[in-house]
Amino acid sequence: MSVVRSVVRGSGSYLPSRIVTNDELAGMVDTSDDWIVQRTGIRERRIAATGEVTSDLALHAARGALKAAGLEPQAIDLIVLATATPDNTFPASAVTVQASLGITKGAAFDMQAVCSGFVFALSTADSLLRTGGFARALVIGAETFSRIIDWKDRGTCVIFGDGAGAVVLEATPSSGTHQDRGVLATRIHSDGRYKEKLYVDGGPSSTGTVGCLRMEGREVFRHAVQMITGAVEEVLADTGFTAADIDWFVPHQANKRIIDACAHKLGLGPEKIVHTVERHGNTSAASIPLAIDEAVLDGRIKPGDLVMVEAMGGGFTWGAALIRW
Ligand code: UT7
Repeated sequence: MSVVRSVVRGSGSYLPSRIVTNDELAGMVDTSDDWIVQRTGIRERRIAATGEVTSDLALHAARGALKAAGLEPQAIDLIVLATATPDNTFPASAVTVQASLGITKGAAFDMQAVCSGFVFALSTADSLLRTGGFARALVIGAETFSRIIDWKDRGTCVIFGDGAGAVVLEATPSSGTHQDRGVLATRIHSDGRYKEKLYVDGGPSSTGTVGCLRMEGREVFRHAVQMITGAVEEVLADTGFTAADIDWFVPHQANKRIIDACAHKLGLGPEKIVHTVERHGNTSAASIPLAIDEAVLDGRIKPGDLVMVEAMGGGFTWGAALIRW
């Protein structure tokens, strides 16, 4: 059976230049390098420069992905930008990226599913490429969480960082078997009963302010492993693969302990896990495409590899996707 698949043509990423170490944070709040490393695996994170906004980060990552794909911006007719930290309430930061790239056709919009944003954006772009008449999509995750952090709250300020990553997807006629390249299956979920476990205490319609991130970390942790492994198992069942078939596990980089617990529960060896949390911290929707690009650039992820991505975050939202590179 002939079908259309969304095949990854290239990836790109961008990190702001300023590195903030755990020791620097220990000078600001009551914490220590030891505590942060033991509880999260994080050693440092990047923070955007004054005046550097989410769409700037996204634009760098998008340009990198286009270069890797060997495509001019005009080849793109869909931009889905996953972010919870847009430049402005509106318009979508995606249209700023679109304009900066000189693209005047197609559609560009933001997607808000917090840390699960990239999986939601990938799933949405995949659907639109397969059924919506679009040819090529830029799927971007970009965040400046440093702008919504309460820098006096040691429970959150040590965790998050800024960054962006992107992939170019191309609608490609395929055989319809799971040997095809491209996005093979995605699953996305939300359950708003948990919306107060991880939220921002402001917004245009409530306080008229931007607000700060608030998190019951232990509660989020408690749900994360079950939700993530559940979504991964659904995607495996959808495609008929088993965990042993996965070449690379590229999880949302929230906490090394969550990543390792998920991998253990799924029976995935440490050699298959792509970790960036140590150097990036939790960059929310940007973490998966940042990790993908690192593993592509250093030669780990190669054409034909089966790559499982997953995420869980505020909402709660969660999901997974299986891609043959
Ligand atoms: O990406 C979106 C999803 N987000 C996540 O997945 C985050 C999930 N949660 C986590 O990663 C972890 O829950 C945290 C890293 C946020 C916290 O680790 P934890 O092991 O769950 O610690 P805890 O919240 O249970 O706190 C343990 C202790 C507390 O002190 P007491 O009450 O035992 O005296 C905290 O006050 O650690 C204290 N604590 C800290 N101590 C030093 C909390 N933050 C810090 C800190 N430095 N930065």
